[in-house]
Amino acid sequence: MLYIVANWKCNPSSAKTAVTLFNAYAAAKINSKIHLIVCPPFCYCQLAQDTLKKTAAIGAQNCCWEGGAYTGELSPHHLAEMGCKYVIIGHSERRRYFGETNESANKKIKAVLAVGLTPILCIGETQKEYLGEKTIQIIETQLKECLLDIDLSKNKILIAYEPIWAIGSGQACEAAQADQVRQFIADFIDRKAPVLYGGSVSAENIESYFNKGKFDGLLIGGLSLKPDEFIQAIKF
Ligand code: PGA
Repeated sequence: MLYIVANWKCNPSSAKTAVTLFNAYAAAKINSKIHLIVCPPFCYCQLAQDTLKKTAAIGAQNCCWEGGAYTGELSPHHLAEMGCKYVIIGHSERRRYFGETNESANKKIKAVLAVGLTPILCIGETQKEYLGEKTIQIIETQLKECLLDIDLSKNKILIAYEPIWAIGSGQACEAAQADQVRQFIADFIDRKAPVLYGGSVSAENIESYFNKGKFDGLLIGGLSLKPDEFIQAIKF
């Protein structure tokens, strides 16, 4: 089974366009070996649920670690109630612009698991860390801190390796190179969770992550907003 996560980020800007995208996804014949997870903005999750239920699982892009007096937040309960099955946690954009840390990611993962949803944990190094050959060190710290006190043999989690410099830059991390990090992650967690790659996945490079690399799936941003290209690209 290969996991394909479509991360729409803060797109599209209207429900009308979201419905067009959902309909295009729903009309596609998805290969049975692919488990498709679509993560639209939260306000379109119900629409996604209505139109895509047969084609894909729905995921959210973030959540709070609990409900109650947290103005402006969404709790894992809200997501579960809306039919979401997955939640992206610790995406680099959340870390960079909204102060998310390994510690907050750890709290969120625990809260998501507590309501029976599956977290998709994102980890990855900055360009400076990459150039300074600190990738493995950074990944190890992120794994240790984000997964603190979480038993992977009892809880389902997906882990996405996303080099920050590769996200949205058009400069993907080459599959063979990314696979070295995948190997490290898989060893570190004793192969107890699927490991995905994310960062400028395109129609041209998509297959390399399964041929030259042994990834269990992909987290795809930009390409997933172009339904025709995206659906064509995941027909392998
Ligand atoms: P991208 O985004 O595919 O546009 O680089 C990946 C991501 O959302 O992490």
